[in-house]
Amino acid sequence: MNRIENLLAAMTVEEKIGQLNMVAAGYAVTGPVLASGTAEGIRAGRIGSLLNLWGAQEIHAMQKIAVEKTRLSIPLLAGFDVLHGHRTIFPIPLAEAASFEPRLWEASARAAAIEAAADGISMTFAPMLDIARDPRWGRIAEGAGEDPWVVTQFAIAKVRGFQGDGLPEGLASAGAVAATAKHFCAYGAALAGRDYASADVSERLLHEVYLPPFAAAVAAGCAAIMPAFNDIAGIPMTAHIPLLRDWLRREAGFDGVIVSDYNAVAELIRHGIACDLVEAAAAALRAGIDIDMMSGAYSQGLAPAIARGLVSIEAINAAVRRVLKLKERLGLFDDPYRRGSAGASAPGVSAAGRDLAREAGRRSIVLLANDHVLPLSPELRRIALIGPLADARADMLGPWAMAGNASDPVTIREGLAAALPDAEIVFAPGVTIAGEDTSGIAAAREICRDADLVLLCLGEAASMSGEAASRANPGLPGAQNALAEAIFELCKPVVVLISSGRPLMISTIAAKAQALVATWFLGVEAGNAIADVLTGTFNPTGRLPVTWPRDVGQVPIFFAERPSGRPADPDNHYTSKYLDMPIEPLFPFGHGLSYSRFGLSKPRINKKDFKRGDELTIEVDVINEGAAAGEETVFLFARDIVASVTRPLLELKGVGKIALAPGEGGTICFRLAAEALAFPGSDLQPVFEPGEFLLSAGPSADPHGLLTVKVRALPG
Ligand code: BGC
Repeated sequence: MNRIENLLAAMTVEEKIGQLNMVAAGYAVTGPVLASGTAEGIRAGRIGSLLNLWGAQEIHAMQKIAVEKTRLSIPLLAGFDVLHGHRTIFPIPLAEAASFEPRLWEASARAAAIEAAADGISMTFAPMLDIARDPRWGRIAEGAGEDPWVVTQFAIAKVRGFQGDGLPEGLASAGAVAATAKHFCAYGAALAGRDYASADVSERLLHEVYLPPFAAAVAAGCAAIMPAFNDIAGIPMTAHIPLLRDWLRREAGFDGVIVSDYNAVAELIRHGIACDLVEAAAAALRAGIDIDMMSGAYSQGLAPAIARGLVSIEAINAAVRRVLKLKERLGLFDDPYRRGSAGASAPGVSAAGRDLAREAGRRSIVLLANDHVLPLSPELRRIALIGPLADARADMLGPWAMAGNASDPVTIREGLAAALPDAEIVFAPGVTIAGEDTSGIAAAREICRDADLVLLCLGEAASMSGEAASRANPGLPGAQNALAEAIFELCKPVVVLISSGRPLMISTIAAKAQALVATWFLGVEAGNAIADVLTGTFNPTGRLPVTWPRDVGQVPIFFAERPSGRPADPDNHYTSKYLDMPIEPLFPFGHGLSYSRFGLSKPRINKKDFKRGDELTIEVDVINEGAAAGEETVFLFARDIVASVTRPLLELKGVGKIALAPGEGGTICFRLAAEALAFPGSDLQPVFEPGEFLLSAGPSADPHGLLTVKVRALPG
């Protein structure tokens, strides 16, 4: 018998249940605190894994109890949220998604895993794969945006990066951590954008939109999955047998660990599907939840659930087996102290980490509008730097930076000062981020008077994004609109920088600014990355991974809408539109400007007619018609014109990037398997239907900028 079966045979029921119990040690960050007496709990075999503890010494002290003071010496798992960097904080995922660079996504996950592992951590609760189409939902910041194809690529890159794909020892490496794809699933569809609220999405939407990124994570070898807090159409995900057992385990073939979200097993009582912890524990275990994070339902409820006949010891054994297997895959039995052992890199931000953070930062910035004021002219003598985000050091970290240090980020003010040593930069915040006090606006206006240009740094506080940070009106908080108005009245050139974890409702500002830049929350190198883009040291290449609405009334809004029988027509009253606002967003998915200008050719296709099993190659010629070297991003969309089920107007099938010198031309080549044009049929099984498709290439999802060819799928 192998190690795991030997252990299982030797374990008492209490020890087995202990392996399924995860508690917060040290800090309870995202929910109610239960943890006290962690060391005693470990010694007694009642705790199999920890969360929210970091630091090699701290984790090793707990590990020592597990391996030296318990009967069976089973090591602990140590889990932590490493969403966008660990000690070195990188751009938030929504920002990083804007780079459309899987290599970068993987590299930042790799770097974060090395730092987390050096801190003793063996498992991260990332990547977050929730597709989000509603900027009211604060957790939109944690994911890669609105599109399933993008989030699928993001899933693969992040799993590879965290789990050390390609390292000789793989997941057992001292610098690798187990990834947890979360939150399974449709969490981003929370009712009215309110975090933790119910989601009610169709089976079709699950199969077309919400499940594919998780299928990709599973195929990439993701070690763990975390179900979401929400219910879907009445079944809480923590007890969702059809999705967890039938789809995830059976159809997608996931044999790793399912770890509940924080306190979610006990919350089955509030959801109203269990009357006590015993029923809650039984419902979760039956659905396949292996680890109960922080609710105590398993430790208090599973033994009575066996006694009541609600669960079997076999189900408990199966869960324990998966947990022990993960510990084995991580190499914890062979060397429980491997992560964070002496010689592992010291915690803190390294020079290499800063370089990567700066590169990630500048690639994440999206130049939304530019009326010839950017890049900043070297002639500028005096720049007024205004606004509450200009010198907001800690906010640059963004919402998930537990092990990050609030003093680490470079502010916008510092980044500019370093980049423009000869310019005079005068600064006034004008207002605080969320305060209503307008008394500082006059002073801010005053220092703008002699300035050649105003840089207006507006946006949200980091704490306004992320978990439990839904906003019914996701505009500029506090008195920032009043500040902006007062500055625009001066009729100076104004460049507006928006720091946020979501698209903010800023259409009035967009109409008045000479340039508008989405700078998200970029992490420790925020100020330098922003200065690189503003000065033109780096030619912006970021593109929106999410549609940017004009107004919250347009939400939810995304490019992959299905066609209406009455598409919007300004001359026809009875068509799909608003009386009070255009239906187009402020900026479409994929939008983002450069300091160069690019020309695109119509796509060339290797074959107009194709069959199942064929591969289409679609070539798009790109020419840099501008004066600066730059990178163009081209999106490839498909539309199935007539199918047995209504297909979206645009479906993303590929993204290509090309770097070109001024005047240079090049070709982006997309390869598209015919099967990529299949879709879930009326029975939700994939079908490949003959007929005509439109393939469109363009710089964004704006239909006006697309170049389209028609191809035909032949039967057979
Ligand atoms: C969040 C998860 C997170 C967990 C542990 C929960 O509240 O929803 O995303 O991984 O806390 O911190």
